[in-house]
Amino acid sequence: RSCVDWRGKQVVITAGGTREPIDPVRFIANRSSGKMGFAMAAAAREAGAEVTLICGPNGLPAPAGVHRVDVETAVEMQSAVAAVERMDVFIGAAAVADYRVQTPAEHKLKKSAEFDSLTLTLVKNPDIISEVARRVPKPFVVGFAAETENLQTYAEQKRRAKGMDVICANAVGEGLAFDQPDNALSVIWSGGVHHFERAEKTQLSAHLIELIDKIMSRE
Ligand code: C5P
Repeated sequence: RSCVDWRGKQVVITAGGTREPIDPVRFIANRSSGKMGFAMAAAAREAGAEVTLICGPNGLPAPAGVHRVDVETAVEMQSAVAAVERMDVFIGAAAVADYRVQTPAEHKLKKSAEFDSLTLTLVKNPDIISEVARRVPKPFVVGFAAETENLQTYAEQKRRAKGMDVICANAVGEGLAFDQPDNALSVIWSGGVHHFERAEKTQLSAHLIELIDKIMSRE
């Protein structure tokens, strides 16, 4: 049982990676498994919150009692988030593609006998968490950042740039974070930093919800 009481709170969580189509059979994707977002959804539900989990394609079962919305692309994820009227807490755990193919081909692209290269034009995707942070009234906004270097500096810059209240930074690289059952996190907010040692994502999520609750009640 959770020692946090989030009964009556509306919590929206994005999870997993998005898929950006190239043509009807191909897409650009990333290594996000969705595990961290799903674990956060379970922990928030455990604390009594009403949870909406908006996720990219993945094979994970939704935690019991959680309202799940499946999407594919970043633009679909943006619309699903925008459709939620009330949110008290937003947790952006999704690995949203920064770019999408400008004009996906209507039919399967054929291999050219003539050319040895193929150029795709990419355009920027909307930044979902920044949009949420500009909402009035503003929900409490928690984001994630996967970095390969200068973890804390880059994460804090990202937190401020996107208007997040809290950022949870994890180191990625050899065997770390992506598709792993465990994770280590540095949690950064305006009032401090907290480091969580490597632990199972399910266990980590329960502690993270407790910390978020503490930070929220201080503000
Ligand atoms: O990709 P990046 O490291 O900038 O992601 C940081 C945070 O921003 C994450 O919480 C991620 O879910 C969110 N994000 C988003 N929309 C994007 C890109 C990232 O909500 N287009």
